[in-house]
Amino acid sequence: MEIQGKVALVTGAASGIGRATAVLLAKEGASVVLADIDDEGSAETSRLIKSLGGEAFSFHADVTDPEQCRAMVAAAEQAYGGLDILHNNAGIITMRPRYPDAEPERWMKTLALNLQAVILGTQVGIEAMTRRGGGVIVQSASLAGLIPYPTDPIYGATKAGVVNFTRSLAPLKEERNIRVNCVCPGVVDTPMVTRARQQAPDGAPTMQLGALIAPEHVADAVVMLVRDESLAGKAVLVRAGQPHKTVEAAALA
Ligand code: NAI
Repeated sequence: MEIQGKVALVTGAASGIGRATAVLLAKEGASVVLADIDDEGSAETSRLIKSLGGEAFSFHADVTDPEQCRAMVAAAEQAYGGLDILHNNAGIITMRPRYPDAEPERWMKTLALNLQAVILGTQVGIEAMTRRGGGVIVQSASLAGLIPYPTDPIYGATKAGVVNFTRSLAPLKEERNIRVNCVCPGVVDTPMVTRARQQAPDGAPTMQLGALIAPEHVADAVVMLVRDESLAGKAVLVRAGQPHKTVEAAALA
C-alpha cells in the first residue's frame, strides 16, 4: 500500500515503538491518530510529528475498553474520512513477581492488553476498513511469542496468541482486501525495557534475545509490512542489524 495520503491509527503511540511508528508513518505522508492512555506522551509524539511537517492528533483511549476502541476508530473516520492502516501496538510486561506467584488480577491485565485488546482493535479496525474497501493491520507481537519465554510466561503466551491470531487472519486478504501481519522484535530500546531492567531480580531466567534494537528499526518493519502487498498473515522477525524476514523465511534460511 502506498502510504502517502493514507489514514493511520497507532495504539501506544505515546512511547517507544508506537511513537517511532507514528513518526515514520507521518514522514511517509500518512495522517496519524495517536491513541494512548498517556496524554502527555501522546502530545509529545504529536509535537514531534508536527515539527517534521506531518499531520497527527492525540486521542485518549484505553484500548482494553470496547467503547474506547470504537471511539478512537470513529475519531479517525471523522477527522480524516476513514482508516487505512492500524498498528495495534500498546502492550505491557507482567511486573514481578512473575507467574505462578503473580496475583491473577495482575497477570490478567497483561492478557487484557496484549491479547484481548489486539483482538478487539483488529475487529473495530476491520469494520472500518471494510467500509473503506480494504486496509492493513500490523500487530506488535514479539520474539517472545515464537520461543518459550520463562522470564514472563504470561507475556510469552499473549504474544504467541497474537502471532497465531495474525496468521489465522490471512484469508481476510482475499475476503476483504485487508492484510493482517505482525512484527516479532527481540529486545527493543524503549521505556518498557528500562522499567523491566529496574525490577528487583527474582531468580527468573534472563533470556538472551539478541542485541538491543532501535525502535526506529521496528517502525521500519511496520512500514515494510504496510507497503508489501504480498504479505498477509505473516510474522516478521526484527533483529538488530539484520534485514526483516518472515518467520517462515528465517526457518528455511
Ligand atoms: P512502552 O512501554 O514504551 O510503550 C507502550 C505504550 O502503551 C505506552 O505509551 C503506554 O502508555 C501505552 N499503553 C499502556 N496501556 C495502554 C492501554 N490500556 N491503552 C492504550 N495505551 C496503553 O513499550 P514498547 O517497548 O514501545 O512496546 C510496544 C509494544 O511492542 C508492546 O506490545 C510490546 O509488548 C511490544 N514489544 C516490545 C519489545 C521491547 O523489547 N520493548 C520487544 C517486542 C515487542
